[in-house]
Parts: sequence; structure tokens; C-alpha cells
Amino acid sequence: MKRPLNLSEEELQQLAKEKVENDVKRQKLGLSKNQYKKLLRQQKHEETKDEYRKSKKEKRKAAKERAQQKAETDRKENEKKPGRLSPSQQLPTGVRCLVDCEFDDLMTEREIRSLSLQITRMYSAMRTCKYNVGLEVSPVDKNLKKQFDTKVPQHKAWKNITMDSKPISQIIEESGKVEDFVYFTADTDEVIEELEEGKTYIIGGIVDKNRHKDLCVKKAKELGLKVGKLPIGKYIQISGRQVLATSHVYEICCKWFEYKDWGKAFHEVLPQRKLEGKVRKRVNRDVNDVVDEAVESEGNTAEYEDEDQDQENAESLTAN
Ligand SMILES: C[S@@+](CC[C@H](N)C(=O)[O-])C[C@H]1O[C@@H](n2cnc3c(N)ncnc32)[C@H](O)[C@@H]1O
Repeated sequence: MKRPLNLSEEELQQLAKEKVENDVKRQKLGLSKNQYKKLLRQQKHEETKDEYRKSKKEKRKAAKERAQQKAETDRKENEKKPGRLSPSQQLPTGVRCLVDCEFDDLMTEREIRSLSLQITRMYSAMRTCKYNVGLEVSPVDKNLKKQFDTKVPQHKAWKNITMDSKPISQIIEESGKVEDFVYFTADTDEVIEELEEGKTYIIGGIVDKNRHKDLCVKKAKELGLKVGKLPIGKYIQISGRQVLATSHVYEICCKWFEYKDWGKAFHEVLPQRKLEGKVRKRVNRDVNDVVDEAVESEGNTAEYEDEDQDQENAESLTAN
């Protein structure tokens, strides 16, 4: 018999004795060696199963407690970060912004991508703002929906934002209060001095390098809506027509509530070169052209940096 390591003579004798006893038992039962081994295993299982179940239960309980502790730590961490505010932690404004995305057919693939990143940026601004400025995006369908579903799938976990498929005419009709809607547009002399409680401000959800001039103002008139522009001229200098990007308009509204000062809001949201009217290559060019041309060009422009930031935001907003 092969001598197992580290066993005393006495232990060896005990083992040999057990083996003989086992052989006798096995023969009495008329079982083969394998059948007998199986029987022993079953017996051992029966003897230890209560203990095994108890230890499994304890392990499960410990894992659950660890998961609960982690969730609590994450929750506290999230509370510390700006950008993770729930409406109950924000101050009410009674103001909502509705991004009108019914211009899907008028945009290139790249412009759709840019718009999706702008909406991501708006979502981020909505979650970080000390004030609750409601955000609704509609209709998210066709190419914009495809873009969100494939490139920003985490939007499905976004909270406190409405992303619907209704055209804005339906939203207005369903509210029964057309007088509570104001369409933001740069193409009017009507200046909005302050944002009013109970109003919904519509922002054109389009990136069009101003190919479609007066698009939103015409739509607003067709829908019988009031229109208004931000008081840009009073506070900042911008060359050409004072057309801003969709996301900037929403971010400015959020900042206006924080400062109650348009100048501060413009300065905080708009890039410095826009504020100074410093446009690249050509002067007297439309601000929106600058935004869109920068997005179009292959260079490492500030707008591309904005887009990269938006992409990062999109990725980090998974469960927010
Ligand atoms: C890129 S612009 C769209 C330009 C488009 N050609 C149009 O007809 O409005 C995106 C949206 O931001 C809003 N916007 C841009 N500049 C604005 C301004 N100076 N005042 C108020 N809203 C503005 C408008 O709602 C506009 O539709």
C-alpha cells in the first residue's frame, strides 16, 4: 500500500482498518466500488446538507448586505456631485422648455448626431441646475430616434425628462392652452425680458447652418404661437444674426434662473469667442454658422471639443 505523506503509523493502521470495514460493508450490500463510493457521497451529502444550506444562506445574506452598503455609498457619492439633482432637490420655476424636433428630414446624418449630443448636454444641464426647468423633447422619431437608440442608448435610463414621439402641435392641442406656449426664435423683434411661470418655451431642435432661415418663426406663426428672442443685443456683442445653438438656449434659461441676470447667463454658457464676436476666417458671419462650420470641419476646433465633452457626458449619464 502506498504510504500517504505525513501520516503516522497509527493513522495508517486506522485507515487500513476503515478500508477493510468499508470493503466488508460494501460486499454485504452487494455493491461495486463505484456504487459504494456513490452511496458514501450521498450519505455525506445528507449529513452535511443542513450545514451547507445554512452557510449558503449566510453567504447570500452577506452579499446582499454588501450590495446594499455599496448602493448607499454610491447614492451618497451621487448626492455630492452636481448634476445628480432630483426635482425635489431643485427649486421650482413653473417653466418648461420643449425642444421641437420635427425637423428630422432637414438635417444631414452629422447634424442629427450633433443635435443628439446637444440634447445630451441639455439633459446634463437640467440635472445640474439648482432650479427645475422642465425639459421635454419631441418628436423623437425617425433618424433622431435611430441615433439615440444606437449611439446614446443610455437615454432610456434618463430621468425627469420627457422624450416623446408627438409633434408639438399635438402637445399644444392636448394642453388646451395655446397662450401658454412661446416659440423661441432669433427672427423676431419681440424680446423676452424674463421667463414666466406657467409658460412653455419652445426651442427649435435643429442644426441647419441657417440653411432654413425663418423656419421656426414661420412654424410658430402657423401654430398661432407667441414668439420671442433672448435679449442678446443688450448684453453681448455677436456678429451677424443672433442665432444660437439649441442647447445653448436651454442652458442660458437654466443659468438665468440661477442669476436672474441675462448677461451673466450668456457669459457663462456661450464660448468666449462668440461673446466677443470673434468669428474665424470671415467676419459678420452668423453665430450658428460658426457653430455648425466648426462641427463640420475636421480640425480640433472648440466646437469639436464641445462635442467630445457631450459624448463623454452621454457616456457618463447611463443611470442618471
Ligand atoms: C440653431 S437655431 C435654429 C435656426 C433655424 N434656422 C430657425 O429657423 O430657428 C436653434 C433654435 O434655438 C433658438 N434660438 C436660437 N437663437 C435664438 C435667440 N437669439 N433667441 C431665442 N431663441 C433662439 C430657436 O428656437 C432656434 O430655433
